[in-house]
Amino acid sequence: MAGAASATGAEAKIPRFTGGPPSVRVHLRGLTAPLHLANICSMQKKTINILGIETSCDETAAAVVADGRQVKSSIIASQTKLHEKYGGVVPEIASRAHIEKIYPVIAEALEQAGMDKDDIDAIAVANQPGLTIALVVGVTAAKTLAFVWEKPLIAINHLHAHLQSAMLSEKTLRLPAVALIVSGGHTCLYDCESPLELELLGSTIDDAAGEAFDKVANILRLPYPGGPSIEKLAKRGNPNAIDFPRSMLGRDSLDFSFSGIKTAVLYYCHGQDMKGENKVDSMSEREIADIAASFQAAVIDVLVKKTQRAAERIGAKTALLGGGVAANAVLRAALHVMCEASVPPRKLLVAPRPYCTDNAVMVASLGHHKFKAGLFADLALEPKASG
Ligand code: KG4
Ligand code: ZN
Repeated sequence: MAGAASATGAEAKIPRFTGGPPSVRVHLRGLTAPLHLANICSMQKKTINILGIETSCDETAAAVVADGRQVKSSIIASQTKLHEKYGGVVPEIASRAHIEKIYPVIAEALEQAGMDKDDIDAIAVANQPGLTIALVVGVTAAKTLAFVWEKPLIAINHLHAHLQSAMLSEKTLRLPAVALIVSGGHTCLYDCESPLELELLGSTIDDAAGEAFDKVANILRLPYPGGPSIEKLAKRGNPNAIDFPRSMLGRDSLDFSFSGIKTAVLYYCHGQDMKGENKVDSMSEREIADIAASFQAAVIDVLVKKTQRAAERIGAKTALLGGGVAANAVLRAALHVMCEASVPPRKLLVAPRPYCTDNAVMVASLGHHKFKAGLFADLALEPKASG
């Protein structure tokens, strides 16, 4: 199993301590910094409070989660307004905004939780995958606080954290479980044995599902982020109006490809030779709504069929859905129908809407599992673009 446990390369399993509060020297680029392990002894404590930090893309977020599931606070500073006019995330702008917001957001998360540093048992931070110059802000803040507050540091894979959002309400998973993560940067299917044991079954070979929503919204002159704009307009359109291609990549593939459908929408709006103007400017709202609805239906069709294919392959009793695109009501409903129609029916666990798009609750919640497993990072932790 390729799990989060081995994701960072900078983490080590630290044994549980039952004696007095020992201390170790943590090596940091040739320097040694003292890290008291008294906090690690708090694994024996009744409630474990994890501070989660998320800066992988365009949300600066911090949250405190107790025992992996009780959300004590969740603060998100969204940068949508800053990126809107560019039709997508501009990494340098994102990074600068994270620098401005990171400490106020963390302070607010602690305040909302009614806690201070002494109540926090560990700091979990998303260090991969994402925009490196955005991730580095959260990682630096987390390392600084871990050092100054003398708390353990936990490295979190952002994608695995998205999946954790779908598990917030469940203590035990009925296995086998198939998981679909659909976000702006990734589209992945996993065989999920536990929050820390995920086997990748398939992923996109080109655009991610959310990326396709964003790019098609751009073609249709709809506001950024594209997913919510397309979903809203699609409600007034006919999903059967245009037969956009559904790329299945062969009978057995569990991979995805969404660049073909994006190009099909582009050709539909500009003409096959791409010489014409974007006809969207002269289309009626009904015509644009038909494109939005037909595009959305085609993408969801592929997502659901591939999830079903994966579920059948592993004999899944449970299906999980997470990531920004999981906020889409049509996708949620279609997966529900697929799970109900299975014999026997599969249990569907969907991330609550506030925890579909990027947030720090999912980071803190997954941090709890790593804390319990004794999987800690050291102060040399680095951000990584890929995951
Ligand atoms: O998970 P997320 O917040 O960030 C990444 O990790 O990428 O996902 C953002 C993506 C964007 O592409 C956005 O357009 C899409 O999720 N999204 C949606 C919806 N809400 C957000 N896509 C379809 N329907 C939605 N309602
Ligand atoms: Zn995300």
